[in-house]
Amino acid sequence: MGIVILDRHERINTSEIQARLEKATKNGNGAGVGTLFPREQIDEFIDMMQVYEGAMYEISTKLEVLDSEFHVHFSHDPIHHMERRLKSVNSILGKLQRRKLPLSTEAIRDNLFDVAGIRVICNYRDDVYSVANYLSSQSDIQVLRVKDYIKNPKPNGYRSLHVIYAVPVFLSTGEHYTPVEVQFRTIAMDYWASLEHALRYKSDLPDAKFSEHSQTLLDCARSLQNIETQMQNIHRDINGAPQQEEAPTSQAFDPKQ
Ligand code: GTP
Ligand code: MG
Repeated sequence: MGIVILDRHERINTSEIQARLEKATKNGNGAGVGTLFPREQIDEFIDMMQVYEGAMYEISTKLEVLDSEFHVHFSHDPIHHMERRLKSVNSILGKLQRRKLPLSTEAIRDNLFDVAGIRVICNYRDDVYSVANYLSSQSDIQVLRVKDYIKNPKPNGYRSLHVIYAVPVFLSTGEHYTPVEVQFRTIAMDYWASLEHALRYKSDLPDAKFSEHSQTLLDCARSLQNIETQMQNIHRDINGAPQQEEAPTSQAFDPKQ
C-alpha cells in the first residue's frame, strides 16, 4: 500500500497531556472557578485519547485498503495523500470553553466529534464521492453526520465533503464506537483551503487588505471549481471513469450506545 500519510501531531505523550491538564486544573491560566478540568479525570482523558487514536488508525487503514483495491482493479489511485491528527489538549479545552461546555471527559465524548481527524486529498471530485461512499457502506462503521460543502460551498468559497464516522475500537472492555471526522477534498480544494486558512489566522492584516484578499479568494474558488470540472471531464472521457456525485447519507445512530 503506497499512500503518503502525513501525521500532523506527535504520538500520544502521556506526561505532556498530564502536564497540560494539570495546568487546566489550576486557576493560574485565566480560567474562572467552575471552568477547571477535574483532576480525577486526567487518567480517563489519556485513555480516551488512546481510543480516539485507535479509531483514527482504523479509518485510515480502511482508506488505504480501498485505495490499493482501486489501484489493483482499475489502475487508478483515487487518494493522492492523507493527513491525520488528534486534537491537542489545548484545542479540546478551548473548544469546550468557546461552546460554554463543562471541562470534562463526558462533555468531550458527547459534544466533540473532531478529536480524531483525517483529511483525504483525492485527485478528482468523482474520487471524493466514490471513496466516501465505499467507506460509508462498510458494515462495521456508522455515518453520524454528512456536510457536503462541495454541493453547497460556504459563502467564503470553502469546499470539501465532511463526514463524521463512528468506528468500533476493540479494547479489553469490549467495543467502543468512536467518532472520527473525515474531510474529503480534491487537490484544488486543499490548495485553496490552505491559503484561506493562512489568511484567516493572519491577525495583523489591515481590514481593507483582509476583505480584498477574501474577495480574491472567492473568485479563485470559482475559477478552481471550473478548472476542476473541465479536468474531471477529460479524465472521465479518456479513462472511462464513471460519474460519482452523490454524497453518503447519515444513519440514525446513538453514539452513546
Ligand atoms: P467546528 O468543528 O466547531 O468548527 O464546527 P463544525 O463541526 O460545524 O465545522 P465544519 O464541519 O463546518 O468544519 C470543521 C472543519 O472544517 C474545520 O475545523 C476546518 O478544518 C474545516 N473548515 C470548515 N470551514 C472552513 C473554511 O471556511 N476554511 C477552511 N480553510 N477550513 C474550513
Ligand atoms: Mg468540526
